[in-house]
Amino acid sequence: MTIVRSLALLVLVAALGGGALALAYGTRDGLLVAALFLITGTPVLGLSHLLVRRRDRVGSLSRQFQVVIGVAVGLVLLAVGVVAALMFFSAHDAFVLALLLAFAGALAAYSATLVARAVMEDIESVRDGVIAVGEGDRDLRIETGADDELAELASSANRMIEQLSEAESRCGASQDARRQLIAAVSHDLRTPLSSLQLLSDAISDGLVDSETRRSYLQQMSVQVRSLSSLVEDLFELSRLEAGDIDWSLQQVQMGDLVEETVEAMRAQADSRGVLVSSDIPDDLVPARANPEKLQRVLFNLIQNAIRHTPADGSVTVRAESNEHHVEVEVADTGGGIDEHEQERVFEPFFRGEQNGSRSRKGAGLGLTICRAIVEAHGGRIWLAPSTEGARVRFSLPRATGAS
Ligand SMILES: Nc1ncnc2c1ncn2[C@@H]1O[C@H](COP(=O)(O)OP(=O)(O)OP(=O)(O)O)[C@@H](O)[C@H]1O
Ligand SMILES: [Mg+2]
Repeated sequence: MTIVRSLALLVLVAALGGGALALAYGTRDGLLVAALFLITGTPVLGLSHLLVRRRDRVGSLSRQFQVVIGVAVGLVLLAVGVVAALMFFSAHDAFVLALLLAFAGALAAYSATLVARAVMEDIESVRDGVIAVGEGDRDLRIETGADDELAELASSANRMIEQLSEAESRCGASQDARRQLIAAVSHDLRTPLSSLQLLSDAISDGLVDSETRRSYLQQMSVQVRSLSSLVEDLFELSRLEAGDIDWSLQQVQMGDLVEETVEAMRAQADSRGVLVSSDIPDDLVPARANPEKLQRVLFNLIQNAIRHTPADGSVTVRAESNEHHVEVEVADTGGGIDEHEQERVFEPFFRGEQNGSRSRKGAGLGLTICRAIVEAHGGRIWLAPSTEGARVRFSLPRATGAS
């Protein structure tokens, strides 16, 4: 509030007080009281505004309250003295009034000190809390003793502490994940690279016969293929995780796409004695998806299913739709996924124990990529309950306008 507003308020109060007295006791008394209001009020307001500007020099809150009360009571006492001197009332009455006023002023100053001390305690508790947060404490809750603006401040500070602690634990978890990822990538790159090094050293030494050399070259070509597929998967995953998605979405007839993918995998399945088939209703509504990415998901899932299904087993791709989604499932009759591994199979570089050396062929990125692709389409992927083998299901939004 500016001093001009304070003075305007004082003039209004003086006019009202003087007017009331004028009505009761005549114009002279009214004018005198109004003048007294103005004479005592103006310095009090002036000093109060000065105090607001120079609060830093006065010190604690209780001292600030005391100074204001002291100034107000002192000037009112002066006014009483002036009025007594002008003989409006007796010296005796003036003394009693002054005493009462001094007592009221002292009481007000004392009460102000008490309230200021309680307010100070709340302020200190907020201050100590904020300092502790700055020093790394995240378990504290700032408490205050009233239901006022300071309590609101404390509750905002508490909310801030909670958010800070959640953000830090998210950040810590993602740093851990990143560290594990780097360790896994380095490991998966090192193994084929060192075997490539050994093979190429052996060839360049010239100590191997031509048949062994051919076999070494073949092994090198396998290692290079596995390396480049790992690098491709990592590249794809990092683009997906960075949200670098520039695919076009279109209406995809799931039946055609599944059929095409199953045919592409048939040779691999046949070589393992696994029967692959699809069971897609003719009237299935189209999904809204990118066909290439969707095929990648189907490819990864069918490849996993074939890898984990023994000879004479089967892999079946099914699909159905509901009001909002098209759901696709790849089910097999293999060993299934252990319950304790189910939580982790979508994590990067996770490879199950159960299927031994056969499952160790992959990098453990297939399901992670599937999840990233499906989620980028606005769908989700999960393991459905199964009594035999694994059932991996995913959903995609229906193409709009499809009935
Ligand atoms: N159909 C399945 N049956 C049994 N286990 C499975 C099946 N699909 C996935 N898994 C388990 O989940 C793990 C992770 O699968 P994911 O596809 O991510 O990796 P991968 O197949 O081992 O390697 P990549 O896909 O990178 O070649 C597999 O190692 C395997 O243990
Ligand atoms: Mg896989």
